[in-house]
Amino acid sequence: MTARLLDGKRVAQEIQGEVKDAAKPLIEKGITPGLAAVLVGVNAASKLYVNSKTKACQEAGLFSEAVLLPTETTREELAKKLDELNGRDDIDGILLQLPLPDHLDSTEFLDRIHPSKDVDGFHPESVGKLVQKRPGPRPCTPAGVMELLRRENIEISGKRAVIVGRSDIVGKPMAMLLTHANATVTVCHSRTKDLPSVTREGEILVAAMGRAAIIRKEFIGPGAVVIDVGMNRAETAEQVKDFFGDDEKRMATFERRGSTLVGDVHPKDAMEIASAITPVPGGVGPLTIAMLLKNTLELCEARRG
Ligand code: GUN
Repeated sequence: MTARLLDGKRVAQEIQGEVKDAAKPLIEKGITPGLAAVLVGVNAASKLYVNSKTKACQEAGLFSEAVLLPTETTREELAKKLDELNGRDDIDGILLQLPLPDHLDSTEFLDRIHPSKDVDGFHPESVGKLVQKRPGPRPCTPAGVMELLRRENIEISGKRAVIVGRSDIVGKPMAMLLTHANATVTVCHSRTKDLPSVTREGEILVAAMGRAAIIRKEFIGPGAVVIDVGMNRAETAEQVKDFFGDDEKRMATFERRGSTLVGDVHPKDAMEIASAITPVPGGVGPLTIAMLLKNTLELCEARRG
């Protein structure tokens, strides 16, 4: 079997187009949905994420502001900045890019974002709403995965779904969303015994633990739909060869940049045994950004629409 590639990029463009259309009447009334993305410190990957988020906003006609703060930012300074954004009428969504530098406790500051502006759905009030299946902002990555499954006509109800990873950002909310869609859900993690025997049971398998290509053939049930949330780097030519086989384009990217992206799923193995997989890049990543725009629009409509 050769797995079908699930084109996250195309679905993300579709969603972004819908957000753009839905925002138009609001913008004509003088209400432009606005996102503030707060980045503390100089993490190259985070900077790249924040840039692509603000760029996508602009393309959809939304207002966006990147708030770049130095690594030495104090608790008081970050709190003050978030309070200021909470108070601004032109800002509908506040995103605090994680991870924060070590001296800042993410819980304290995620709690400080007003729930009406909680574009990531990380505030405990939003988490409670998710658990109780009440309307509210949903974390963008798992929400994007749900949109992808829906738009690719992948049946969820009654299916066995297995998630590897139990983070607040992906694993836990993913489990809730799949449960609400009537999947039978198992969440695995670093202490799970005989992981492959559990993951093989997944008709839908979501990999979100942040380890390069760790999901090999023996982890994947024949015909599974595999969703790869991982975003890691292959750093040696041997790895690129192992992960991608004779994919010349990949090797060229690697030689040009000194590394290439790889997910948590071993791409060559998955191609041989899964029925469908999300590529990295071009799978889940673009969907996260599309859902961020959708959440910004929805928070705007709820607060001042
Ligand atoms: N860091 C990694 N993923 C995310 C995300 O979805 N939102 C935020 N705010 N930070 C992240």
